[in-house]
Amino acid sequence: MGEKRYVIALDQGTTSSRSVLVDRRGRMVDVVQRPFQQIFPQPGWVEHNPQDILFSQLGTLTELVARHGLTSDDVAAIGIDNQRETTIVWDPTTGVPVSNAIVWQCRRTADMVGRVCGTPEVREMVRSKTGLLPDAYFSASKTAWILENVPGARARAEAGELLFGTVDTWLVWTLTGGLVHATDPTNACRTMLYNIHEGRWDQDLLDLFDIPASMLPEVRPSSGPFGETSYPGLPAGIPVCGVAGDQQAALFGQCCFAPGQAKNTYGTGCFMLLHTGAEARESEHGLVTTIVASPPGTTQTQYALEGSVFVAGALVQWLRDELGIIRDAAETESLAQSVPDTGGVYVVPAFTGLGAPWWEPDARGVILGLTRGTGRAHLVRAALEALAYQIRDLADAMEADAGSALDVLNVDGGASANDFLMQFQADLLGCELRRPANTETTSLGAAFLAGLASGFWGGTDELVALRETDDVFRRTMDPARVDALLAGWHDAVRRVM
Ligand code: G3P
Repeated sequence: MGEKRYVIALDQGTTSSRSVLVDRRGRMVDVVQRPFQQIFPQPGWVEHNPQDILFSQLGTLTELVARHGLTSDDVAAIGIDNQRETTIVWDPTTGVPVSNAIVWQCRRTADMVGRVCGTPEVREMVRSKTGLLPDAYFSASKTAWILENVPGARARAEAGELLFGTVDTWLVWTLTGGLVHATDPTNACRTMLYNIHEGRWDQDLLDLFDIPASMLPEVRPSSGPFGETSYPGLPAGIPVCGVAGDQQAALFGQCCFAPGQAKNTYGTGCFMLLHTGAEARESEHGLVTTIVASPPGTTQTQYALEGSVFVAGALVQWLRDELGIIRDAAETESLAQSVPDTGGVYVVPAFTGLGAPWWEPDARGVILGLTRGTGRAHLVRAALEALAYQIRDLADAMEADAGSALDVLNVDGGASANDFLMQFQADLLGCELRRPANTETTSLGAAFLAGLASGFWGGTDELVALRETDDVFRRTMDPARVDALLAGWHDAVRRVM
């Protein structure tokens, strides 16, 4: 048997599933992507059909395998990264979910969380154990909702007949032919049921949301064994040995392995993480504390501060699909550069409230400062600038919590390709912005985790050496101008709160 040539990353995102073939040099040899249906049963509700998640993911994997004629002799390992918090409950004897998946964006349990976590004591208990601010975003209330609302689900769950999982768990369980019911700490810590200091499911939190412990998956290290492929039509016996939530996978893919290193992913939303090492730092500025993915052999749990912005790339999509003022996202770069500034226009994209550091669920979006001279280029520029302002607010919160300034921000995700946005971001932040040649760091992180566990790569030094030259952006704007722009932005934000 020859040397294995590849690792495969399964990147299960909110709107599409992708399978990515990665070689020893950390290069993406090929990618197969399939979108799947978004289900909006009521305003504010978001669901996925778990079978759509599964079959879109397996469909991309099957196609990748067929395109390259891959067998288990070619592939050293599979790594999974996934949309986090999204909740699935299923019957392990049939493999059939009891309902649609409740997606992280879904707000149906906001009232429930308000009720269950209604007192300051309970909120503080949840925050101190989980590092999270009690919110419908996380899996706990979504699971409770399924148990309360799907006929018979509670009785079956209490009889030990149902399993809970985030998307990684659902994929691992299926890929391994139902043999492995497991998750990793980066996903577990987003459920609001996991004690991030003690590294275990927490009975007080399970009691709070009335969730039977028997439903919960085993928690295994992110880089380590999760069983082997055993699914009809796929090569059998490939080790699944990397699992992480997509944002922590991106941090790993950016080679942010040490305290002080940070990344921001510009996707549908933005997710910024600052590695804080073995210290689970409590935020006083509206961020959450989360567990990061660690290389094999790490003895102490490693943490990060995380800030989430709900609307980033989604704002550009809105310009395209609802306003119809651009044809595609790529056009925004030249349009924004075609005017010297926004002419005083600010867009606050609070479509679904404001996330960190403001946490204003009832805020709604505004466009401010329109004049007779405002054109679509000004509006597009203001939209891109809004992405950067939101990240500046997160960076301020992180620096205040960490007590030190950010020297470098590693960037990735779709909109990081936009040079106008990256330069404006560097102008606002004042630190160095580094964009790797491969901005698909989420998949790369999943590949790295699986590749380290399987011995495909020898260690993190080897991964750092794989990184090709970065594009670097630094501030060129006069700091007084930055201050004036920020004052205008904060004035606009105040008006939506
Ligand atoms: O917390 C939600 C996040 O994991 C979703 O990421 O990339 O699927 O939008 P994405």
